[in-house]
Amino acid sequence: MLPGRVPIQAVQDRLLATLTLAEKVVCLTVGLFLCVPQMCGCSFSTSSQRKSQFYTDPTEAVKDIPSGATILVGGFGLCGIPENLINSLLKTGVKSLTAVSNNAGVDNFGLGLLLQTKQIKRMISSYVGENVEFERQYLSGELEVELTPQGTLAERIRAGGAGVPAFFTATGYGTLIQEGGSPIKYNKDGTIAIASEQREVREFNGRHYIMEKAITGDFALVKAWKADKAGNIVFRKTARNFNQPMCKAAKVTIVEVEEVVDVGTFSEEDIHIPSIYIHRIIKGDCYEKRIERRTVQKDLAEKPKPKKDSDILRERIIRRAALEFEDGMYANLGIGIPMLASNFIQPDITVHLQSENGILGLVKPSFESIYVDISCVCAGKETVTVLPGASYFSSDESFAMIRGGHINLTMLGAMQVSKTGDLANWMIPGKMVKGMGGAMDLVASAGTKVVVTMEHSAKGGKFKILDTCNLPLTGKQCVDRIITEKAVFDVDKTKGLTLIEVWEGLTPEDIKTCTGAHFEVSPTLRPMQQV
Ligand SMILES: *[C@@H]1O[C@H](CO)[C@@H](O)[C@H](O)[C@H]1NC(C)=O
Repeated sequence: MLPGRVPIQAVQDRLLATLTLAEKVVCLTVGLFLCVPQMCGCSFSTSSQRKSQFYTDPTEAVKDIPSGATILVGGFGLCGIPENLINSLLKTGVKSLTAVSNNAGVDNFGLGLLLQTKQIKRMISSYVGENVEFERQYLSGELEVELTPQGTLAERIRAGGAGVPAFFTATGYGTLIQEGGSPIKYNKDGTIAIASEQREVREFNGRHYIMEKAITGDFALVKAWKADKAGNIVFRKTARNFNQPMCKAAKVTIVEVEEVVDVGTFSEEDIHIPSIYIHRIIKGDCYEKRIERRTVQKDLAEKPKPKKDSDILRERIIRRAALEFEDGMYANLGIGIPMLASNFIQPDITVHLQSENGILGLVKPSFESIYVDISCVCAGKETVTVLPGASYFSSDESFAMIRGGHINLTMLGAMQVSKTGDLANWMIPGKMVKGMGGAMDLVASAGTKVVVTMEHSAKGGKFKILDTCNLPLTGKQCVDRIITEKAVFDVDKTKGLTLIEVWEGLTPEDIKTCTGAHFEVSPTLRPMQQV
């Protein structure tokens, strides 16, 4: 007997027991028609198309993806990418793809391979990062890129799978995302060929929100850890990321797994994705599972003590930033100085670190004695270890946590900050584009304290603290505190800056000469504190 018949039969029996004879006759007649497909050997509730099919050759599983298709590709950095399915697309030679993926692998691995072969026409991503070819193709007008804040991207995909056509989010309000006109495609001469659309703004409870539309795909290419023979799947550690919402948002979901196990191997309540969302399953032949940044404790220990002036200044910022941690806090820390500040968390307090790719309770980096696991990376793509009591979750869940205001502290770097707390840290038009990653979502969260850690001035002494930012914004009126190697400012979103701490030997006058915005001096101004 096929699965699916038993419960239906049981329901029919239960219903029949409650009916009168006349009603029973009607029901049985109708039921006979309904049962015909079952008699021909098809499942009653699941047509043969709906049942997950198992493949042995990954190229067979993707060969009907046509040129011009929209594909949703799971993964965060190189963690949890469907590497066998991507390699198969190299073989089928499909062209003009729109690829929805948080990022595009690296130059010679993951989606980076399909960029090299020019099989992708448009990327919908949050992060370009260190993929040099990705950045080059975009800036030279060879590739269309719709940069989308990471949490908005995850929620657009989640909404797509859940039948919600659009939703409102505070992320991106007051930035190019809302205003539109952001370059999707450049002309060869550097002018904009295709610009992003303006977003509708609505006010709810005194806050501004922008409308974002759902994303669905023709195909989803997903990497999971294990599938059971009924087609249910589970993910490993942080390899869940975008894979989970993508499973639900495509017409055809193709999943590659490391292992196919018998039904019952994982219990029903531990299944991450029920089989209804999964159409094709392939056990990957081999997994390279390349690690982007392998970091273990030993690497840090071997580093010589800071000697260069820049290292000493950096450590000053780190030791001041560490004072922002309070007992019991949930904190999300950006790459670089913020993450390094976590090394100075006082032993008598507990801080729960959140990483937006889907971890609560991490420590960085991996302990050397523990097997370094590609399935466990932080948002900086470095291998990490988690503490007892930690948890893993998907990207849409992670940003619900962030957007919902459940994180107490966000610490991140900046290229520019304005006196009213506007922040710019994701692109220099026409020159450099790293992407906003999760930063726009993190700073848009009401109820989360936003602390910027950065060098006081840019190269050549250019001001970074300004009356108004001239780079594209990451968030408007979102910064609460600025920590540099020279000073600490509190930011009032209407009144402006107040100098609250200054490095020993410097005066407010000294700070004035290197700051591009007016500031008040606190009556309780004190020397810059350090852990
Ligand atoms: C963190 O935020 C929650 C609200 O989301 C609050 O109840 C809690 O007191 C905060 N904890 C700290 C240490 O700030």
